[in-house]
Amino acid sequence: MQVTTGTKGRFITVEGGEGAGKSTVIAKLYEELQARGVDVLLTREPGGIDIAEKIREIILNPAHTQMDERTEALLYAAARRQHLAEKVLPALQAGKIVLCDRFIDSSLAYQGHARGLGIEAVYEINRFAVGDCMPELTLFFDIRPEVGLARIDKARGREVNRLDLEGIRFHQLVREGYQLVMEKDPDRFVVIDAEQPMEQVYESVLRVLLARL
Ligand code: TYD
Repeated sequence: MQVTTGTKGRFITVEGGEGAGKSTVIAKLYEELQARGVDVLLTREPGGIDIAEKIREIILNPAHTQMDERTEALLYAAARRQHLAEKVLPALQAGKIVLCDRFIDSSLAYQGHARGLGIEAVYEINRFAVGDCMPELTLFFDIRPEVGLARIDKARGREVNRLDLEGIRFHQLVREGYQLVMEKDPDRFVVIDAEQPMEQVYESVLRVLLARL
């Protein structure tokens, strides 16, 4: 699956289950890249811009327990489209490196596999949302769900969302979902061992990125 046709920038995404430390590590990475003079944009899904943040609020609100699985998948795809059109594509066209915390693979793993909608079905609606704009590189932060969830438990004060409330089985399915997606598209992924101490995770990610950029 090739990249961002017609754009000059580089599109890199970061994926993983709960408590993998993605957000902490890429915030640090962003600062490092900026300090090295790299023209980089850091953004996240679902959200990143006003309309998508509003959709995020609807999806992740812990009170919305009645949300249908397909509605959930469509809302993620809608938020993705808006974020892509308004923020990611213009940045890529301007030649930036875009680092995005979660993208299409989250939908394939969470909605496609863990929710049971089917990876192919969820891929189809997402193809409509993203067209041919796929990341050239995806860093997968791999962690056993019991380890990730224990980290979240310790980090009190962190926002608890509707998906955090799912049981361990759900998070095991998410990890399995990512493994299935990686098997289908192995060249795009680099697996990062997210069970290492955060500093080592950061060093591994920086090494991979500097080698690629
Ligand atoms: P967030 O608080 O950003 O989680 P994290 O820090 O783990 O990235 O919440 C995003 C949640 O939404 C997370 O549980 C994963 C889920 N998600 C999906 O289920 N499908 C998707 O397509 C995306 C982008 C996220």
